[in-house]
Amino acid sequence: MHEIEMLINGRSYSGLAEARMTLADFLRHSLGLTGTHLGCEHGVCGACTVLVDGASVRSCLMLAVQAKGAIVETVEGLAATDGKLSPLQQAFQDTHGLQCGYCTPGMLMTIVELLRENAQPSEAQIRDAISGNICRCTGYQSIVEAVLLATGGKSAGRMSE
Ligand code: FES
Ligand code: FES
Repeated sequence: MHEIEMLINGRSYSGLAEARMTLADFLRHSLGLTGTHLGCEHGVCGACTVLVDGASVRSCLMLAVQAKGAIVETVEGLAATDGKLSPLQQAFQDTHGLQCGYCTPGMLMTIVELLRENAQPSEAQIRDAISGNICRCTGYQSIVEAVLLATGGKSAGRMSE
């Protein structure tokens, strides 16, 4: 077993992990941070996306030991400490970008990364950024609209009609 320490959402965490334990399992099972979801568990669906040292990673494909000492951001860190949703989360709610919510944590973290690089992405850039995240509820249009709402962008889709 390995002692793993990391800074998650600005708070220091530590726990034990076997060498083969994924970062996703470490977050969920060892630390109780179950906001990060697991879908395919082999790098396809994007549900498990978190940020490690500012870059999005599929936490089902990264070992916990590889994230030792890293700065990790998960969906739990997006809302304010009083529970107030971030503008992006609020926009998801307002546009019905949440259906079952399974893909949502991965979508949000992917979009957080996008918005740090490009604060006002076009609809095409948003679609490109989330192209690796699968939503089984086929809610892509509402998700794109949520990002546009949060960033003041314009949709070519139904909201502008
Ligand atoms: S659970 Fe990691 S990509 Fe699907
Ligand atoms: S909201 Fe259900 S999978 Fe995306």
